Formats: sequence, C-alpha cells, structure tokens
Amino acid sequence: MWDKAMEQAADKTKRNIGRFGDRFPQVTDGGPAYRLIPNDDWINGFWTGILWLCYERTGDEAFRLAARRAVESFRERLERNVVMDHHDIGFLYSLSSKAQWIVEKDENARQLTLRAADALMKRWRPRLGLIQAWGKEGEPVNGGRIIIDCMMNLPLLYWAHMQTGDRRYLEAASAHADKSRRFLVRGDGSSYHTFIFDQETGDAVGGATHQGYRNGSTWTRGQAWGIYGFALSYRYTGRPEDLDTARRMAKHFVRRLPEDGVVYWDFDAPVGPDTKRDSSASAIAACGLHEIVGHLPADDPDRALLQEALERSMRSLVRDYTPRDPAVQGFIEHGAYGVLGGASVDDCLIWGDYFYLEALSRLTGGRKGYWYE
Ligand code: GLY
Repeated sequence: MWDKAMEQAADKTKRNIGRFGDRFPQVTDGGPAYRLIPNDDWINGFWTGILWLCYERTGDEAFRLAARRAVESFRERLERNVVMDHHDIGFLYSLSSKAQWIVEKDENARQLTLRAADALMKRWRPRLGLIQAWGKEGEPVNGGRIIIDCMMNLPLLYWAHMQTGDRRYLEAASAHADKSRRFLVRGDGSSYHTFIFDQETGDAVGGATHQGYRNGSTWTRGQAWGIYGFALSYRYTGRPEDLDTARRMAKHFVRRLPEDGVVYWDFDAPVGPDTKRDSSASAIAACGLHEIVGHLPADDPDRALLQEALERSMRSLVRDYTPRDPAVQGFIEHGAYGVLGGASVDDCLIWGDYFYLEALSRLTGGRKGYWYE
C-alpha cells in the first residue's frame, strides 16, 4: 500500500513540474489546481522537498533538475533578502539547499544553508532566551512571542552546530526548546499555539492562539509541529526531556484521534457534520510518531500504541483522503490552513503533501526527510 501510494505521488509530481514551472504551489483554494506563488512565503521549501524525495525514490533526472532550479531561487531569495525576517528560514532551507547538500554533497548548497542558519540566528533574543517567530525586534507582543511551529525550525541550527562546531547555534536552539517545553506544552501533553513574555522583565504573560479555536485550546497542527519538533531535537541533543516531551505530546494526540485517525483542525472545536479536518496535521504527526518510535526500545510500553496510530492515520490518508479526481494536483485533500480566518479550510496544502510523502518514504524504508544529517 505504501509503495503504491508513493509511486502515485511521484507520477503526479512529474506531471506537476511542467504545470508549475518556476513558481511554487501553496494551497488549492477550492478548485483542483494549486495557487502558484513566487519564492516569498513560508511554504516554498515543501515543493522543493517533494522534488528531492521523488528524485531519491525514482532516480529520475527530471526531479533532480527541477529541485536544483528551485534551490537556485532560494539562493536568490537569500541574496536579495526577500521576506527573510521571520523564523521559517528553517522550513525553507532544510528542504531546499540542505536537502541538496544531503543528496549530492554539494559544497555551494552547504554554504548557502549555513548562511540561512545565520539569518535564522538573527531572530535569537538572548535576553529573553527565545527565537522570535514573527515581526520586528522589540515590536509590541510579537517581540516577546514564541510559537510551537518554531520547533521545526530548530534542526537548521542544530545542523549548523554539527557542521561548524560553533556552539552558539546549539545553545540558541536548545534554550528555545527548553522555553517551548516549559511554556507551550501543558501538563497533560496538550499545547498552546503561542506564548507571550513581557519584553522588559521576561515574565510569562500567557498562552494565545493564532490559528486555533481559542486561546486555551489545542490547535492540532501546532500539536503535530511540537511532536515532530521535539523528537527531532532529541535526535541532536540526546536529552531525555526532549524525547519525553515528544512522547507526551504524541500520546495526547493519539488519545484524541477521531475514529478514522485523521484529526479535526482543533481538538477543542465542537465536532459536527461541517467541522473541518486538517489532513496536514495528521501527515506531520505521522512523521513525528515514526521518529519517536525509532528512538524507543523494543519493550517500551508506548511503542505499540504509537505505531498503531501512525499506521491507522496513514492508511486512512491513503485510502480516503487522496483525490478521486485526477485533475486535483495535490496528494491529500481536506487540509485546513486557518479555519477562523476562512483561509483554505478544506483544501490541498503543499506542506500536507510534503509530510504525507515523507511519511510514505519513512514507511518504505527510504529517506526520513531532510531535517538532520
Ligand atoms: N507554520 C504555519 C502553519 O502551520 O500554518
């Protein structure tokens, strides 16, 4: 089942290369076709990562050439400083130039990725001990805000430490992970989307949502970013608390899975016939669960629970969330970008497609993404 799903995704990607040209798919927005955008958003790495995964799976040069072209546009983006003042540099460059370095050991790609890590370090606020997600330094509220999604940007800094031996990258990433564990993750393993600190005193102000149902709810995609992000932190730091946090968040996610194994957009949103799913959250969580299970000893009591949930979610995604209509350009339907803002609430989302493919790659013994190495 996993192999066949991967082949279908690779075939679709091959057709999409010609359709997309030098632009990047973002969301499908109601119709079958992706909205195409320039390289100026947080999402551009996902298409590039899909191309690298397809190249590694098939050996087909068409994927490699398209992926290399995309990496060139990331070089230009960094050189021209196009929308680089945010924390998503990790998402962008892990799946583009860092992937190229992993696949081809290309020194230019390695250098570009190190420069991207330096750009991300500009978001580090040593006095507060956090990486600022959004906005300018010192701006009201955002200047003291952390967000759970940022856990997925930390691997770029861990990698830069491994490459250079410069401990500043490691210290910033692990301090940010500590702060996220203490303030974003609650005692029952659920999470706030964002948390705000007073910029003068560093005191905790409180949790607040941006894309979730309400301030104290658990936005399922945020929970998924945390599951996978802490599991990846553990891979670098080896700190038991990173694995423990990933495991607690994963168990919370699994406990609240609906019958078909694919989550609604927020665990605390009332569920009725029209409640939106977020297939992308389940695809991200599947990669995180796979990563966690890989770190647990064979006799660990949580292993079977997490493995079963991972396979149930992925079976459901393959069987019931892949489009019946061949005109649809995405791999999985029923993703929700921002339900309360009315942004793409029942669509294909390019990050959902990327993590779906990465999960299939993991399940078939292939590349486990490009977050580490
Ligand atoms: N990191 C942005 C999102 O998950 O929507």
